[in-house]
Amino acid sequence: MTRVLVSGATGKLGAPICAAISAADDLVLAGRVARSLSGDAGFATLEAAIAGTAAEVVVDVTAPDAGVPHTLATIAAGLPMVLGTTGMTPEGAAEIDAAALAAGVPVLFVPNFSITAVLMMRFAAQAARFLPDCAIVEEHHVAKVDSPSGTALRTADLVEEACGRRPEIASVRLEGLVANQSVLFGSSAQTLEIRNVTTSREAFVPGALLAIRGIRTLAPGLHVGLELLLD
Ligand SMILES: NC(=O)c1ccc[n+]([C@@H]2O[C@H](COP(=O)([O-])OP(=O)(O)OC[C@H]3O[C@@H](n4cnc5c(N)ncnc54)[C@H](OP(=O)(O)O)[C@@H]3O)[C@@H](O)[C@H]2O)c1
Repeated sequence: MTRVLVSGATGKLGAPICAAISAADDLVLAGRVARSLSGDAGFATLEAAIAGTAAEVVVDVTAPDAGVPHTLATIAAGLPMVLGTTGMTPEGAAEIDAAALAAGVPVLFVPNFSITAVLMMRFAAQAARFLPDCAIVEEHHVAKVDSPSGTALRTADLVEEACGRRPEIASVRLEGLVANQSVLFGSSAQTLEIRNVTTSREAFVPGALLAIRGIRTLAPGLHVGLELLLD
């Protein structure tokens, strides 16, 4: 049984992750963190939760300004971290990697827990080898704080690695959306569109459980992408 602490537990993503951990035979919900929680319901800060629970893995799905400090606090406690919070800057990533290597702790940053989104990124990288003329259109709900999305940035990184050219990213924020992305490739008289559609945050739960179960198999340092655990 792995004891898991969920930071951002009352959120649209954190709540279904907590429910899935509670329902899993091999996982225990060791604690819940959100600023609005207190008493038996949970902890207002991650630091208090780490001190007050014997957690073995921490998951953070909070907000862009909290993801990096929460990850550094988790590393300082010697615990592996699954970071699902998006909006991490390159400076934040470098700081996390250095701290995680020094502490001997694995951190997995997952820009998108959706397994279909991970496959979309993999197929986009394959297509980019033959079709370098590429553009990304990401579409999200209006409450999303960071733009472009972490998935769009990660897709752009993978396409650039594959073909040497960075695609442009267009961001759309519309009522009614959850998270969609199209990766468009153009060539002479032909185009290819790879599209991922997410209709509810339940889409992120199987990938989050995969990351929680697999994080301790990774080496110390910062790793990016659920695809590391897919194969
Ligand atoms: N990786 C993925 O696949 C994926 C998918 C969807 C969303 N996300 C990302 O996950 C994050 C959360 O998304 P969401 O839609 O669930 O947001 P949300 O509904 O606003 O939930 C945020 C949660 O974090 C808590 N929180 C916020 N700031 C905090 C802080 N400083 N300390 C402790 N708790 C804090 C909130 O509770 P209080 O307000 O009470 O503190 C709440 O429980 C965002 O960064 C989003 O982009 C990632």
